[in-house]
Amino acid sequence: MASLRCFLITVAVVSLFLVPRTADSIPFVVFHGISDSCRNRGITQFTTLLSNWSGSQGYCIEIGNGAWDSWTIPFVKQTAIACKKVKQMSELSQGYNIIGLSQGNMVGRGVIELCDGGPPVRNLISLAGPHAGIAAVPLCGSAAVCILVDLLIEFAIYSGFVQEHLAPASYIKIPTDIDAYRKACKFLPKLNNEIHKNSTYKERFSSLDNLVLIKFEKDDILVPKETSWFGYFPDGSWETVLPAQETTLYTEDWIGLKTLDEAGKVKFVNVSGGHLEISYSDMKKYILPYLVENATMQTRLSESSHSYSWSGHQPQTLKLYASH
Ligand SMILES: *[C@@H]1O[C@H](CO)[C@@H](O)[C@H](O)[C@H]1NC(C)=O
Ligand SMILES: *[C@@H]1O[C@H](CO)[C@@H](O)[C@H](O)[C@H]1NC(C)=O
Ligand SMILES: *[C@@H]1O[C@H](CO)[C@@H](O)[C@H](O)[C@H]1NC(C)=O
Ligand SMILES: *[C@@H]1O[C@H](CO)[C@@H](O)[C@H](O)[C@H]1NC(C)=O
Repeated sequence: MASLRCFLITVAVVSLFLVPRTADSIPFVVFHGISDSCRNRGITQFTTLLSNWSGSQGYCIEIGNGAWDSWTIPFVKQTAIACKKVKQMSELSQGYNIIGLSQGNMVGRGVIELCDGGPPVRNLISLAGPHAGIAAVPLCGSAAVCILVDLLIEFAIYSGFVQEHLAPASYIKIPTDIDAYRKACKFLPKLNNEIHKNSTYKERFSSLDNLVLIKFEKDDILVPKETSWFGYFPDGSWETVLPAQETTLYTEDWIGLKTLDEAGKVKFVNVSGGHLEISYSDMKKYILPYLVENATMQTRLSESSHSYSWSGHQPQTLKLYASH
């Protein structure tokens, strides 16, 4: 009898640890930033840590060959590739979360808004996403690409050629060149429902459970850094940066940002650090809670957080920008 009770207790303890891996968690996928690759150490570390802490499966989804293709494949195509991949992953069919890193947010939002028949996305956790555009080209990761980029920019950012061959061109929004942007920019105006309004995109974006927008206080890659919160320069001026709530995208609710915000589903988070430099404690505080499904699970996590320890020589901060 005594040994049976002991057996039952053992089973109970074991299943407590197994539960988070099965019932309470849904998988997440990571879309990395420009010049990066799923194989790079920063990205694998990031995905593995979050997976370990949350007990949910994490996948980094690569588009093409990684670094080079992140610069050169236009987003409509990057999104189509990502859409096909998430549809093929049966693990995601019951729903999943997306973590977007910088430019990876364009792919993530593309999947949420444009992917017909894709599995449902619960939360979008966005780190340094250029959601409202950027007004300068991100720093280059490799010299060869840089020369190409400078040439192309000088040529004409909104020319058909550049739009077809330089991915960041499709979210560059020069505030004093809005007409050209609206006419020729291939991706961001579509994603933000700026010109043609597609109610399906809005409906899908508004159906998120949570939109977590993480801005990096010392971000000097995104211009302006407030784009991570959907803030941007007003049309025609470089002088001020409007907070999200004062942009037309928000007030006219083109994409459902206002709807989500009024429902309390948008979390505006700023963390210290440069572009995509996030500490373990901020990852735990701002990302982890959205990777575990239920509040009870979240409580259990924080109660047992002391058991998630790592040896002192491991870095306490991850740098996820071109993290070779
Ligand atoms: C999470 O909680 C809700 C109720 O709040 C419950 O219906 C659902 O089954 C729970 N999910 C899991 C996976 O336990
Ligand atoms: C994640 O957990 C596994 C198994 O416990 C361990 O081998 C691995 O080192 C952990 N990874 C990280 C990044 O902590
Ligand atoms: C809006 O997007 C949906 C989903 O991609 C598509 O089926 C539909 O044709 C689009 N509507 C318009 C008016 O473009
Ligand atoms: C976040 O923003 C607020 C308001 O601008 C500021 O006071 C705070 O220092 C910022 N940084 C962090 C890391 O919270």
